[in-house]
Amino acid sequence: MVKVKRLGHTTLQTEDIDGQTDYYSRVLGLSIVERSKDRVFLASKVGLEAVELVKGKPGWMSAQSFQIDPESDLNDVVKELSKHGIKAERRKGMSPGVADSVTFVDPKGTQVDLFSEYKFPKQDLTPSAFNILKLGHIAYRVLDVQKVVKFYNEVLGFRTSDSRGDYFYFLRCNTDHHTLNFIVDEKPQLHHIAFEVMEWAEIRKATDFLALNKIHLVWGPGRHVIGHNVATYHRTTDLVRIEIFTEMDQMKDEALGYWDPRPWHQERPLYPKTHGKETLRNYWGYGSERVIKGYQTNEIPVYGAIES
Ligand SMILES: [Fe+2]
Repeated sequence: MVKVKRLGHTTLQTEDIDGQTDYYSRVLGLSIVERSKDRVFLASKVGLEAVELVKGKPGWMSAQSFQIDPESDLNDVVKELSKHGIKAERRKGMSPGVADSVTFVDPKGTQVDLFSEYKFPKQDLTPSAFNILKLGHIAYRVLDVQKVVKFYNEVLGFRTSDSRGDYFYFLRCNTDHHTLNFIVDEKPQLHHIAFEVMEWAEIRKATDFLALNKIHLVWGPGRHVIGHNVATYHRTTDLVRIEIFTEMDQMKDEALGYWDPRPWHQERPLYPKTHGKETLRNYWGYGSERVIKGYQTNEIPVYGAIES
């Protein structure tokens, strides 16, 4: 089995590369590590590549990457994937920090690149309004959620952290509660991407700075129950939902099997589980009262006059 260690970057399509570059660099504070007319790479200030912008249909995600064990032989990875019927090939120059990768298409039709070695960019010391640490997770709407979850768990080494019924899955590849979400939907497409910040103070700085830029929140801040991250959501002008979060549940020791205990957990110890209708989407914050009535998690509720 190939073992994914962490999420790399996501490739987002846009018709407005300059506008989106301004948003991700000036508003979110990511560093531009490579820029050409048709392609821009951005990394967090701590040096992790996070977003690639390319020309295309606004708001569509066309690729994502993951780092695997630095000791991995990429030819072995190609062979391993072929055992599962996946046609993969070596690729050069995926990103400024990745010289070699293995590329293939996952069961939901997204291009995936796996890389073993990563070169950090030169440190960017320019200040930003708040600090994103990394691209933390990607949530995707899929038709056949069981098939996609099985693929990521059995072929790429993910584990199911929690699920809501049999239609909303949270998968981890490291200590973070989730790096991937898959949600059943008839229209396969990106649901949201999420950036991790160090602490609440960063969320306050982020939301104030978003407001100064006339970008309003569409959900939160609140604390989720599944994953327990404090999260807030807004949209880009390409209508990509962006989550900014902190304090996500951590599985520090897989052998123990429970989440590192936190004061706000509802159960002790707290194990991965399947949640039912009784589980609120938010422990507190906007949206914490809605689940029992609606039991509808695909749509993030909206408040204010901003959703367009
Ligand atoms: Fe999320």
